[in-house]
Amino acid sequence: MDKAVFTSTLVGIVLQTDAAVPMHESLYSQIRDLIVSGKLPRSVRLPSTRTLAEQLGCSRPTVIIAYEHLESEGYLATRQGSGTYVTAVLPEDYLRCGSTAEQDMRAVKEPSVFLSRRGTSLAQIPFLPVESYGTTNTGHPFSPAEPDLSLFPFSTWTAIANRIWKSPRAGLANSDDPAGFVELREAIANYLGIVRGVRCTPDQVVITSGTQHAVDFLARVLLDPGDRVWVEDPTVPHLVQGPLISVGAQPVPIPVDDHGLVVEAAQDIAPDARLAIVTPSNHYPLGVAMSAERRDQLLAWASRARAWVLEDDYDSELCYQGIAPATLYSQDVDERVILVGTFSKVLFRGIRLGYMVLPTKLVPELLVAKRHIGHWTSILTQPTLARFMQEGHFYAHIRRALHVYRERSKVFDDGIRRELGHLFLAKERDRGISAFVEFTEELGQRMSDSHARQCAERAGIEVRAISEYFLGSPTRKGLLLGFGAVPVERILPALLRLGDALSDHREVRKH
Ligand SMILES: Cc1ncc(COP(=O)(O)O)c(C=O)c1O
Repeated sequence: MDKAVFTSTLVGIVLQTDAAVPMHESLYSQIRDLIVSGKLPRSVRLPSTRTLAEQLGCSRPTVIIAYEHLESEGYLATRQGSGTYVTAVLPEDYLRCGSTAEQDMRAVKEPSVFLSRRGTSLAQIPFLPVESYGTTNTGHPFSPAEPDLSLFPFSTWTAIANRIWKSPRAGLANSDDPAGFVELREAIANYLGIVRGVRCTPDQVVITSGTQHAVDFLARVLLDPGDRVWVEDPTVPHLVQGPLISVGAQPVPIPVDDHGLVVEAAQDIAPDARLAIVTPSNHYPLGVAMSAERRDQLLAWASRARAWVLEDDYDSELCYQGIAPATLYSQDVDERVILVGTFSKVLFRGIRLGYMVLPTKLVPELLVAKRHIGHWTSILTQPTLARFMQEGHFYAHIRRALHVYRERSKVFDDGIRRELGHLFLAKERDRGISAFVEFTEELGQRMSDSHARQCAERAGIEVRAISEYFLGSPTRKGLLLGFGAVPVERILPALLRLGDALSDHREVRKH
C-alpha cells in the first residue's frame, strides 16, 4: 500500500531550489527535526520516496538520499516489502540513557534511566507551552480554557461536603465500586438525558478522574501495541499523545476543516485504525462543529472497520443559545461510540471528575478490567457532586455562568470586529470560554503565530499560538484566547493592548 501515513506533516516541508544548501540536505534536516520534535511519532510509516517526491515537487533521488542519510543515522528503518518507518528508538535515546560505564553508574543513582522504552517515549514527548493550562494561570487575560472560578458557589459545595462527611453513612468511606459512586452515576445519567438527549442507564456511566483518565483507560482496554488511532489535527496534544504512546499505540493526525474531522482523508491515511478520538460538538481548539455528513461518514467507518469512536464532549454545557448539537453517541446504532465528559470546564479543572458512557456490550468486561487496573477516583468528591446535582445547584451554576460567559463573549467578539478587524478574521461563536482568532493575510505575512504569542506576552497578555496544537505542519495561523475568566470591563482594554502589541511590527525571520 502506497498511502502516506504522515503526508500532511511532510507536505508542510519547504524546499527552495535556489537555496545554498542542497535540497536533499534541507529535506534531511527538516524530516529529522520533525522526528526529534515528536511531530513525526516513532514507528510511523513514511510515504514512499516516489509519493513524497511528487508531493514536494522534487526529484525522487533527492528523497532517496535524504531517507538514506536518516537511515544511516538511525532515525529511519526500512522494512522489506513494507516501507520506511521512523525508528522506535531514536539516536537521542541512546545519548540520553547512556551506554558508557560512567553513565551506567550514574544511572544507578538516577532511577529514571530505568524507564521502559514506553516510559522513555512518554518522558520525551516535547513539553509544549500549551500544556501549562490551569497550572500557570497568571491572572492575565486571555489564558485559554479557564473558567471563572469566582462564579463557582464554593460555600454551597463546602456545606454539602460537610453534611456528607461530618458523619459519613455506613460503607461510604470504603466505597470500592470501579464504576464510581452510584448516586453520582444516576445524577449524570439523568442530567445527560435532560440536557444532552442521551439515553443511557446509570449502569453505563463510569466515573473517571477527567477526560485524560478516560482516554488512558480506554487506550489500555481497547488498543494493542502498534494500533493506529485517528486524532484530530490540531488537538490538545497532551490529552491524546501520552495515553496512546503509553500503550504503544500510534496517534495518526487527521486534518480538521470547517466541517470537522476530514473522514475521507482519515480513511486514506489509516483505514485500519482501531479508534478515533474526536470533539464533534465543538472542535478544540478551532471551535467548529462536525457536519451531519462527516458524522455519518465517521459512524459508517466505525461500523465497517469495527473500530471505536471516543467522543470528547468537553464543554456541551456551555452553549449560550439552546442546546449543543446532538451527541454522536445518540446517533450511533451500532454501539461503537463511547461518550466522554468532564467537569473540568463547567466546574473547575482541579476537581478531577468526569465520566464515560459505555455501550452496554462493553460494560461488564470494562468494569472488571477497571477493577484490575485499580483506576479509582477518590470518593471524597463524588457524593458531594451527586448531591450538588440532585439539589439543583449544578444547573443553577451553569445558568449563572452561561449568563456571564455570553456577555463576555459578546463584548469580546465586538472588540475583535470593531478594533482588531485588521489583525483577525471576525468569527462569532455561540458557546464556550475560548476563541480561535485567525490571522488576516496581512498579519500572517508579518509574523508567525508563535512570534505573536511572544509579543502578546511581553504586553501582559497570555495567549496560545494555534500552531502549538498541531501534531503535523500547521495549516492555520492564529491565536487561541480565553475570555471566560476576564471581567467584562477588562476585555476591551486587553484587546486594545493585544492590538498594539501586534501592530506595525514585523517579525525578523532567520533564514
Ligand atoms: C478538548 C478537551 N477535552 C477535555 C478536556 C478536559 O480534560 P480533563 O477532564 O482531563 O481535565 C480539555 C481540557 O483542556 C480539552 O481541551
